[in-house]
Amino acid sequence: MTTVDPLYTRAVEVLPGGNTRSTVFVAPHPPYAVRGSGAVVVDSTGHEVIDCNNNYTALIHGHAHPEILEAAATAASSGTAFGLPTHYEVDMAELLRHRTGVPQWRFCNSGTEAVMMLVRAARAHTGRDLIIRFSGSYHGTYDGVVSQGASGVPAAVADSFIVLPPNDVTAFETAMREHGDRVAAVLIDLMPNRAGLVPSTQEFVDTLRTLSTAHGALLAVDEIITFRLGFGGLHQRYGITPDLVSLGKIIGGGYPIGAIGGSPDVLSSFSPLANGTVAWGGTFSANPVTMAAGATALRLFDTERIEDLNSAGDQLRIELSAAGLTVNGSGSLLRLVVEDTTALWWELYRHGVLVGTNGLLSLSTAMNDEQIESIRHAVLRAHSALDTRV
Ligand SMILES: Cc1ncc(COP(=O)(O)O)c(C=O)c1O
Repeated sequence: MTTVDPLYTRAVEVLPGGNTRSTVFVAPHPPYAVRGSGAVVVDSTGHEVIDCNNNYTALIHGHAHPEILEAAATAASSGTAFGLPTHYEVDMAELLRHRTGVPQWRFCNSGTEAVMMLVRAARAHTGRDLIIRFSGSYHGTYDGVVSQGASGVPAAVADSFIVLPPNDVTAFETAMREHGDRVAAVLIDLMPNRAGLVPSTQEFVDTLRTLSTAHGALLAVDEIITFRLGFGGLHQRYGITPDLVSLGKIIGGGYPIGAIGGSPDVLSSFSPLANGTVAWGGTFSANPVTMAAGATALRLFDTERIEDLNSAGDQLRIELSAAGLTVNGSGSLLRLVVEDTTALWWELYRHGVLVGTNGLLSLSTAMNDEQIESIRHAVLRAHSALDTRV
Protein backbone atom coordinates (compact mmCIF):
# COMPACT_ATOMS: atom_id res chain seq x y z
CA MET A 1 0.00 0.00 0.00
CA THR A 2 1.57 3.25 -1.05
CA THR A 3 -1.13 5.74 -0.05
CA VAL A 4 -2.55 5.79 3.45
CA ASP A 5 -6.20 4.70 3.61
CA PRO A 6 -8.15 7.77 4.83
CA LEU A 7 -10.38 5.46 6.88
CA TYR A 8 -7.31 4.19 8.72
CA THR A 9 -6.22 7.76 9.42
CA ARG A 10 -9.56 8.38 11.12
CA ALA A 11 -9.67 4.94 12.76
CA VAL A 12 -6.30 5.09 14.46
CA GLU A 13 -7.35 8.29 16.24
CA VAL A 14 -10.33 6.65 17.90
CA LEU A 15 -9.52 2.91 18.06
CA PRO A 16 -6.25 1.60 19.54
CA GLY A 17 -4.32 0.31 16.52
CA GLY A 18 -7.16 1.31 14.20
CA ASN A 19 -9.67 -1.48 14.78
CA THR A 20 -11.37 -3.54 17.49
CA ARG A 21 -10.45 -7.19 17.00
CA SER A 22 -6.81 -8.22 17.59
CA THR A 23 -7.67 -11.33 15.57
CA VAL A 24 -8.23 -9.38 12.35
CA PHE A 25 -5.18 -7.13 12.63
CA VAL A 26 -2.51 -7.55 10.00
CA ALA A 27 0.46 -5.17 9.81
CA PRO A 28 0.66 -2.36 8.89
CA HIS A 29 -3.15 -2.36 9.17
CA PRO A 30 -5.94 -4.38 7.60
CA PRO A 31 -8.09 -3.03 4.78
CA TYR A 32 -11.65 -2.08 5.76
CA ALA A 33 -14.52 -4.17 4.38
CA VAL A 34 -17.40 -2.36 2.74
CA ARG A 35 -19.68 -5.15 1.57
CA GLY A 36 -19.92 -8.87 1.00
CA SER A 37 -22.09 -10.96 -1.24
CA GLY A 38 -21.87 -14.75 -1.45
CA ALA A 39 -18.19 -15.66 -1.55
CA VAL A 40 -16.94 -12.16 -2.40
CA VAL A 41 -15.92 -9.21 -0.21
CA VAL A 42 -15.19 -5.67 -1.43
CA ASP A 43 -12.96 -3.33 0.58
CA SER A 44 -12.96 0.44 0.91
CA THR A 45 -10.59 0.80 -2.05
CA GLY A 46 -12.94 -1.21 -4.28
CA HIS A 47 -10.63 -4.28 -4.28
CA GLU A 48 -12.55 -7.60 -4.55
CA VAL A 49 -11.49 -10.79 -2.84
CA ILE A 50 -12.85 -14.33 -2.57
CA ASP A 51 -13.56 -14.76 1.11
CA CYS A 52 -11.78 -17.76 2.59
CA ASN A 53 -11.78 -16.14 6.00
CA ASN A 54 -15.57 -16.08 6.32
CA ASN A 55 -15.36 -14.11 9.53
CA TYR A 56 -13.03 -16.68 11.00
CA THR A 57 -15.08 -19.66 9.80
CA ALA A 58 -18.47 -18.34 11.00
CA LEU A 59 -20.07 -17.59 7.61
CA ILE A 60 -20.77 -21.09 6.43
CA HIS A 61 -22.98 -19.79 3.59
CA GLY A 62 -20.85 -16.74 2.78
CA HIS A 63 -22.25 -13.21 2.91
CA ALA A 64 -25.83 -11.98 2.76
CA HIS A 65 -27.45 -15.33 1.99
CA PRO A 66 -31.01 -14.40 0.92
CA GLU A 67 -32.82 -17.03 3.02
CA ILE A 68 -30.86 -16.17 6.13
CA LEU A 69 -31.44 -12.45 5.61
CA GLU A 70 -35.13 -13.11 5.15
CA ALA A 71 -35.32 -15.15 8.35
CA ALA A 72 -33.51 -12.40 10.27
CA ALA A 73 -35.69 -9.67 8.75
CA THR A 74 -38.89 -11.57 9.49
CA ALA A 75 -37.85 -12.05 13.11
CA ALA A 76 -36.71 -8.41 13.42
CA SER A 77 -39.97 -7.09 12.00
CA SER A 78 -41.76 -8.54 15.04
CA GLY A 79 -39.23 -7.14 17.52
CA THR A 80 -35.48 -7.60 17.88
CA ALA A 81 -35.26 -8.47 21.57
CA PHE A 82 -37.64 -8.97 24.47
CA GLY A 83 -37.58 -9.11 28.24
CA LEU A 84 -39.30 -12.47 27.77
CA PRO A 85 -38.18 -15.76 26.22
CA THR A 86 -39.36 -16.51 22.68
CA HIS A 87 -40.15 -19.57 20.59
CA TYR A 88 -36.99 -18.89 18.58
CA GLU A 89 -34.69 -20.09 21.33
CA VAL A 90 -36.83 -23.19 21.82
CA ASP A 91 -36.63 -23.94 18.07
CA MET A 92 -32.88 -23.47 18.09
CA ALA A 93 -32.33 -25.66 21.16
CA GLU A 94 -34.47 -28.41 19.57
CA LEU A 95 -32.45 -28.15 16.38
CA LEU A 96 -29.13 -28.46 18.23
CA ARG A 97 -30.45 -31.36 20.27
CA HIS A 98 -31.50 -33.10 17.06
CA ARG A 99 -28.09 -32.60 15.47
CA THR A 100 -25.88 -33.40 18.44
CA GLY A 101 -27.93 -35.59 20.75
CA VAL A 102 -26.96 -33.17 23.55
CA PRO A 103 -30.21 -32.69 25.45
CA GLN A 104 -30.17 -29.12 26.79
CA TRP A 105 -28.81 -25.75 25.66
CA ARG A 106 -28.32 -22.15 26.73
CA PHE A 107 -27.37 -19.22 24.52
CA CYS A 108 -25.14 -16.17 24.74
CA ASN A 109 -23.56 -13.74 22.30
CA SER A 110 -20.04 -15.01 21.66
CA GLY A 111 -17.85 -18.06 21.87
CA THR A 112 -15.80 -16.34 24.56
CA GLU A 113 -18.88 -16.03 26.71
CA ALA A 114 -19.88 -19.63 25.98
CA VAL A 115 -16.51 -20.96 27.16
CA MET A 116 -16.70 -18.75 30.27
CA MET A 117 -20.13 -20.18 31.12
CA LEU A 118 -19.02 -23.71 30.28
CA VAL A 119 -16.19 -23.39 32.80
CA ARG A 120 -18.60 -22.00 35.38
CA ALA A 121 -21.10 -24.79 34.75
CA ALA A 122 -18.38 -27.40 35.25
CA ARG A 123 -17.20 -25.81 38.48
CA ALA A 124 -20.72 -25.41 39.83
CA HIS A 125 -21.62 -28.99 38.96
CA THR A 126 -18.52 -30.62 40.41
CA GLY A 127 -17.78 -28.22 43.27
CA ARG A 128 -14.15 -28.19 42.03
CA ASP A 129 -12.01 -25.36 40.66
CA LEU A 130 -9.29 -26.82 38.44
CA ILE A 131 -9.65 -26.89 34.65
CA ILE A 132 -7.24 -28.76 32.40
CA ARG A 133 -6.71 -27.31 28.93
CA PHE A 134 -4.14 -27.76 26.18
CA SER A 135 -1.40 -25.42 25.05
CA GLY A 136 -1.80 -23.61 21.75
CA SER A 137 -5.59 -23.96 21.66
CA TYR A 138 -7.61 -20.77 21.45
CA HIS A 139 -10.87 -20.70 23.40
CA GLY A 140 -11.62 -16.97 23.16
CA THR A 141 -10.55 -14.17 25.46
CA TYR A 142 -12.07 -15.11 28.82
CA ASP A 143 -9.44 -14.65 31.60
CA GLY A 144 -8.78 -18.31 32.32
CA VAL A 145 -8.21 -19.48 28.77
CA VAL A 146 -5.86 -16.83 27.39
CA SER A 147 -2.12 -17.50 27.28
CA GLN A 148 -0.49 -18.13 30.61
CA GLY A 149 1.09 -14.96 31.95
CA ALA A 150 -1.07 -12.77 29.70
CA SER A 151 -1.15 -9.27 31.11
CA GLY A 152 -4.41 -8.25 32.72
CA VAL A 153 -5.17 -11.75 34.03
CA PRO A 154 -4.88 -12.23 37.81
CA ALA A 155 -2.44 -14.99 38.78
CA ALA A 156 -5.16 -16.56 40.92
CA VAL A 157 -7.30 -17.12 37.81
CA ALA A 158 -4.41 -18.53 35.78
CA ASP A 159 -3.52 -20.81 38.71
CA SER A 160 -6.89 -22.53 38.50
CA PHE A 161 -6.00 -23.84 35.01
CA ILE A 162 -3.47 -26.54 34.22
CA VAL A 163 -2.12 -26.28 30.68
CA LEU A 164 -0.81 -29.51 29.17
CA PRO A 165 0.80 -30.33 25.81
CA PRO A 166 -1.77 -31.51 23.24
CA ASN A 167 -1.95 -35.15 22.20
CA ASP A 168 0.37 -36.19 25.04
CA VAL A 169 -1.29 -39.18 26.70
CA THR A 170 1.45 -39.58 29.31
CA ALA A 171 1.36 -35.94 30.42
CA PHE A 172 -2.42 -36.14 30.75
CA GLU A 173 -2.31 -39.40 32.72
CA THR A 174 0.29 -37.92 35.08
CA ALA A 175 -1.75 -34.73 35.61
CA MET A 176 -4.89 -36.73 36.34
CA ARG A 177 -3.03 -39.01 38.73
CA GLU A 178 -1.77 -35.97 40.64
CA HIS A 179 -4.75 -33.63 40.44
CA GLY A 180 -7.68 -35.65 39.04
CA ASP A 181 -9.81 -35.42 42.17
CA ARG A 182 -9.62 -31.60 41.99
CA VAL A 183 -10.39 -31.27 38.27
CA ALA A 184 -13.79 -29.84 37.34
CA ALA A 185 -13.35 -30.19 33.57
CA VAL A 186 -10.98 -31.14 30.83
CA LEU A 187 -11.45 -28.61 28.03
CA ILE A 188 -10.43 -29.59 24.52
CA ASP A 189 -10.76 -28.32 20.97
CA LEU A 190 -10.38 -31.51 18.95
CA MET A 191 -8.67 -29.73 16.03
CA PRO A 192 -7.34 -26.44 17.39
CA ASN A 193 -6.78 -23.78 14.76
CA ARG A 194 -4.18 -21.72 16.64
CA ALA A 195 -2.23 -24.85 17.48
CA GLY A 196 -1.90 -25.65 13.76
CA LEU A 197 -5.26 -27.25 12.91
CA VAL A 198 -3.96 -30.74 13.61
CA PRO A 199 -6.68 -33.24 14.61
CA SER A 200 -6.31 -34.85 18.05
CA THR A 201 -5.46 -38.53 18.00
CA GLN A 202 -8.17 -41.06 18.76
CA GLU A 203 -6.03 -42.54 21.54
CA PHE A 204 -5.67 -39.15 23.21
CA VAL A 205 -9.38 -38.36 23.02
CA ASP A 206 -10.32 -41.82 24.31
CA THR A 207 -7.93 -41.32 27.23
CA LEU A 208 -9.48 -37.94 28.04
CA ARG A 209 -12.93 -39.50 28.03
CA THR A 210 -11.98 -42.48 30.19
CA LEU A 211 -9.90 -40.64 32.78
CA SER A 212 -12.31 -37.71 33.10
CA THR A 213 -15.09 -40.11 34.00
CA ALA A 214 -12.82 -42.11 36.30
CA HIS A 215 -11.92 -38.98 38.28
CA GLY A 216 -15.38 -37.44 38.36
CA ALA A 217 -14.33 -34.59 36.04
CA LEU A 218 -16.37 -33.39 33.07
CA LEU A 219 -15.15 -33.65 29.50
CA ALA A 220 -15.89 -30.36 27.75
CA VAL A 221 -15.46 -30.13 23.98
CA ASP A 222 -15.12 -26.70 22.41
CA GLU A 223 -16.71 -27.09 18.96
CA ILE A 224 -16.89 -23.38 18.18
CA ILE A 225 -14.88 -23.83 14.98
CA THR A 226 -15.15 -27.58 14.40
CA PHE A 227 -18.94 -27.92 14.54
CA ARG A 228 -19.06 -27.28 10.77
CA LEU A 229 -17.18 -30.53 10.08
CA GLY A 230 -20.07 -32.86 10.89
CA PHE A 231 -23.83 -32.88 11.38
CA GLY A 232 -23.40 -32.83 15.15
CA GLY A 233 -19.81 -31.64 15.30
CA LEU A 234 -16.36 -33.18 15.15
CA HIS A 235 -16.70 -35.12 18.41
CA GLN A 236 -19.10 -37.51 16.69
CA ARG A 237 -16.24 -38.65 14.46
CA TYR A 238 -14.34 -39.70 17.59
CA GLY A 239 -17.31 -41.62 18.91
CA ILE A 240 -17.29 -39.87 22.29
CA THR A 241 -20.08 -38.28 24.30
CA PRO A 242 -18.90 -35.04 25.90
CA ASP A 243 -20.42 -33.80 29.16
CA LEU A 244 -20.39 -30.22 27.93
CA VAL A 245 -20.13 -28.70 24.45
CA SER A 246 -19.56 -25.08 23.45
CA LEU A 247 -20.74 -23.81 20.08
CA GLY A 248 -20.62 -20.47 18.27
CA LYS A 249 -19.71 -19.12 14.83
CA ILE A 250 -21.83 -20.95 12.18
CA ILE A 251 -24.83 -21.50 14.45
CA GLY A 252 -25.52 -17.73 14.45
CA GLY A 253 -26.04 -17.47 10.69
CA GLY A 254 -23.68 -14.48 10.66
CA TYR A 255 -25.00 -12.86 13.85
CA PRO A 256 -23.37 -12.84 17.31
CA ILE A 257 -23.75 -16.21 19.04
CA GLY A 258 -22.45 -18.60 21.64
CA ALA A 259 -24.06 -21.67 23.18
CA ILE A 260 -23.35 -24.43 25.62
CA GLY A 261 -25.01 -27.82 25.72
CA GLY A 262 -25.08 -30.58 28.30
CA SER A 263 -27.31 -32.97 30.18
CA PRO A 264 -30.08 -31.60 32.43
CA ASP A 265 -28.02 -32.80 35.39
CA VAL A 266 -24.88 -30.91 34.35
CA LEU A 267 -26.78 -27.76 33.40
CA SER A 268 -29.08 -27.81 36.43
CA SER A 269 -26.92 -25.14 38.12
CA PHE A 270 -28.54 -22.68 35.72
CA SER A 271 -32.10 -23.85 36.28
CA PRO A 272 -34.33 -21.83 38.59
CA LEU A 273 -36.56 -24.94 38.73
CA ALA A 274 -33.72 -26.97 40.24
CA ASN A 275 -32.77 -24.13 42.61
CA GLY A 276 -29.75 -23.49 40.42
CA THR A 277 -27.35 -20.97 41.87
CA VAL A 278 -25.59 -19.81 38.72
CA ALA A 279 -27.05 -16.76 37.01
CA TRP A 280 -27.07 -16.56 33.22
CA GLY A 281 -27.76 -13.06 31.97
CA GLY A 282 -27.13 -11.37 28.68
CA THR A 283 -29.48 -8.62 27.56
CA PHE A 284 -29.30 -9.90 23.99
CA SER A 285 -28.78 -13.62 24.73
CA ALA A 286 -31.04 -15.83 22.58
CA ASN A 287 -32.41 -12.78 20.75
CA PRO A 288 -34.91 -13.72 18.00
CA VAL A 289 -32.85 -12.29 15.12
CA THR A 290 -29.77 -14.40 15.87
CA MET A 291 -31.84 -17.47 16.67
CA ALA A 292 -33.86 -17.22 13.44
CA ALA A 293 -30.81 -16.54 11.26
CA GLY A 294 -28.82 -19.30 12.94
CA ALA A 295 -31.56 -21.91 12.67
CA THR A 296 -31.97 -21.12 8.98
CA ALA A 297 -28.22 -21.38 8.37
CA LEU A 298 -28.15 -24.75 10.09
CA ARG A 299 -31.15 -26.10 8.17
CA LEU A 300 -29.40 -25.11 4.94
CA PHE A 301 -26.27 -26.93 6.11
CA ASP A 302 -27.60 -30.47 5.88
CA THR A 303 -25.63 -33.71 5.66
CA GLU A 304 -25.25 -33.49 1.91
CA ARG A 305 -23.93 -29.92 1.99
CA ILE A 306 -21.57 -30.75 4.85
CA GLU A 307 -20.16 -33.68 2.89
CA ASP A 308 -19.83 -31.67 -0.33
CA LEU A 309 -18.01 -28.86 1.42
CA ASN A 310 -15.72 -31.22 3.29
CA SER A 311 -14.90 -33.03 0.03
CA ALA A 312 -14.08 -29.73 -1.68
CA GLY A 313 -11.75 -28.87 1.21
CA ASP A 314 -10.11 -32.29 1.20
CA GLN A 315 -9.56 -32.08 -2.56
CA LEU A 316 -8.01 -28.62 -2.26
CA ARG A 317 -5.73 -29.80 0.53
CA ILE A 318 -4.60 -32.81 -1.53
CA GLU A 319 -3.82 -30.60 -4.54
CA LEU A 320 -1.94 -27.98 -2.53
CA SER A 321 0.00 -30.63 -0.62
CA ALA A 322 0.91 -32.35 -3.89
CA ALA A 323 2.42 -29.03 -5.01
CA GLY A 324 4.72 -29.01 -1.99
CA LEU A 325 2.79 -26.91 0.54
CA THR A 326 2.23 -27.99 4.11
CA VAL A 327 -1.52 -27.85 4.60
CA ASN A 328 -3.14 -29.01 7.84
CA GLY A 329 -6.78 -29.39 8.73
CA SER A 330 -9.72 -31.51 7.77
CA GLY A 331 -12.68 -31.07 5.43
CA SER A 332 -13.69 -27.45 4.88
CA LEU A 333 -11.00 -26.10 7.24
CA LEU A 334 -7.44 -25.73 5.92
CA ARG A 335 -4.36 -24.19 7.45
CA LEU A 336 -1.40 -23.16 5.31
CA VAL A 337 1.72 -23.70 7.39
CA VAL A 338 4.22 -20.98 6.49
CA GLU A 339 6.87 -18.98 8.27
CA ASP A 340 5.71 -15.50 7.39
CA THR A 341 1.93 -15.45 7.70
CA THR A 342 1.75 -11.67 7.23
CA ALA A 343 3.58 -11.84 3.88
CA LEU A 344 1.33 -14.73 2.85
CA TRP A 345 -1.79 -12.82 3.89
CA TRP A 346 -0.89 -9.77 1.80
CA GLU A 347 0.27 -11.80 -1.18
CA LEU A 348 -3.05 -13.65 -1.24
CA TYR A 349 -5.07 -10.53 -0.57
CA ARG A 350 -3.43 -8.65 -3.41
CA HIS A 351 -4.23 -11.59 -5.68
CA GLY A 352 -7.86 -11.73 -4.67
CA VAL A 353 -8.13 -14.13 -1.73
CA LEU A 354 -8.90 -13.24 1.91
CA VAL A 355 -7.62 -15.75 4.49
CA GLY A 356 -7.11 -15.74 8.26
CA THR A 357 -4.09 -13.86 9.52
CA ASN A 358 -2.55 -17.19 10.57
CA GLY A 359 -3.02 -18.88 7.19
CA LEU A 360 -6.45 -20.35 7.98
CA LEU A 361 -8.80 -20.98 5.07
CA SER A 362 -12.43 -21.92 5.54
CA LEU A 363 -14.68 -22.79 2.65
CA SER A 364 -18.30 -21.70 2.40
CA THR A 365 -21.24 -23.16 0.51
CA ALA A 366 -21.36 -19.87 -1.43
CA MET A 367 -18.18 -20.81 -3.31
CA ASN A 368 -18.45 -22.29 -6.78
CA ASP A 369 -15.90 -24.55 -8.47
CA GLU A 370 -14.40 -21.65 -10.36
CA GLN A 371 -13.81 -19.70 -7.16
CA ILE A 372 -12.22 -22.71 -5.47
CA GLU A 373 -9.98 -23.05 -8.51
CA SER A 374 -9.04 -19.36 -8.19
CA ILE A 375 -8.16 -19.94 -4.54
CA ARG A 376 -5.94 -22.87 -5.53
CA HIS A 377 -4.17 -20.73 -8.16
CA ALA A 378 -3.68 -17.83 -5.77
CA VAL A 379 -2.20 -20.07 -3.06
CA LEU A 380 0.15 -21.78 -5.51
CA ARG A 381 1.22 -18.42 -6.87
CA ALA A 382 1.81 -17.06 -3.36
CA HIS A 383 3.73 -20.21 -2.52
CA SER A 384 6.18 -19.73 -5.35
CA ALA A 385 6.34 -15.96 -4.85
CA LEU A 386 7.21 -16.30 -1.18
CA ASP A 387 8.89 -19.70 -1.27
CA THR A 388 6.66 -20.61 1.66
CA ARG A 389 7.96 -24.15 2.01
CA VAL A 390 8.81 -25.06 5.60
C1 LIG B 1 -12.33 -22.88 19.47
C2 LIG B 1 -12.79 -21.49 19.80
N1 LIG B 1 -13.34 -21.24 21.00
C3 LIG B 1 -13.79 -20.01 21.32
C4 LIG B 1 -13.67 -18.96 20.45
C5 LIG B 1 -14.18 -17.60 20.83
O1 LIG B 1 -15.32 -17.28 20.08
P1 LIG B 1 -15.74 -15.75 19.86
O2 LIG B 1 -14.73 -15.16 18.92
O3 LIG B 1 -17.11 -15.81 19.27
O4 LIG B 1 -15.70 -15.09 21.19
C6 LIG B 1 -13.10 -19.17 19.20
C7 LIG B 1 -12.96 -18.06 18.24
O5 LIG B 1 -12.28 -18.13 17.25
C8 LIG B 1 -12.64 -20.47 18.87
O6 LIG B 1 -12.06 -20.71 17.69
